[in-house]
Amino acid sequence: MRKKIIAPSILAADFANLQRDIEMVNDSQAEWFHIDVMDGVFVPNISFGMPVIKAIAKHASKPLDIHLMIVDPDRYIQTFADLGGAILTVHYEACTHLHRTLQAIKDTGMKAGVALNPHTPVSVLEAIISDIDLVCLMSVNPGFGGQKFIPHTYEKVKQLKSLIASNQAHAQIEIDGGVTNLNTAELSAAGADVLVAGSFVFNSKDPKETIVNLLELTEKA
Ligand code: DX5
Ligand code: ZN
Repeated sequence: MRKKIIAPSILAADFANLQRDIEMVNDSQAEWFHIDVMDGVFVPNISFGMPVIKAIAKHASKPLDIHLMIVDPDRYIQTFADLGGAILTVHYEACTHLHRTLQAIKDTGMKAGVALNPHTPVSVLEAIISDIDLVCLMSVNPGFGGQKFIPHTYEKVKQLKSLIASNQAHAQIEIDGGVTNLNTAELSAAGADVLVAGSFVFNSKDPKETIVNLLELTEKA
């Protein structure tokens, strides 16, 4: 089985010690940085914007996986590419012309991701799955870290895996929200490739060790 990817969510880092927390991820077994951008319109919270991402990029030695929880994301695609984004994920629910948006992301050289809210069925991606590099299944309602995992996600992972296989598509499956040691093995077994973990990693005593533990659980799947 392909090695799974752990992507710590910087939303749960200590912003007063951002460099320290970024270096922890650099030194860890995690492969990506997950960066949550919230605009207070698409979701009921505001996180951080370009100057903070610029500061993160300065220290991060691993790919930046940027998750946009904003309306009309097309306005900022080039900006996030210039900031050093490797993967740019937009919400299905925020894009009227999703195909055009994905092409615009890929034209910058970034990988193109699509996130689905918990209530959005996987089937909405039927006509576009082959154009997507990463599907982010939200396993909480977006807007906040530290929420409880929604168990219906397991079913959605299986549906998505079969949609990808039946189209011979290449999209990676990412799970975002409430990921802990209690659901990592089952998510991996169902077909998840990337696990985003915020509070479970950063609120633990030894975040690097927690990342190793999560990875070991993915291998038990
Ligand atoms: C939620 C964000 C998540 C969040 C995950 O809107 O998209 O990436 O930071 O945090 P935890 O792991 O604490 O649920
Ligand atoms: Zn996220």
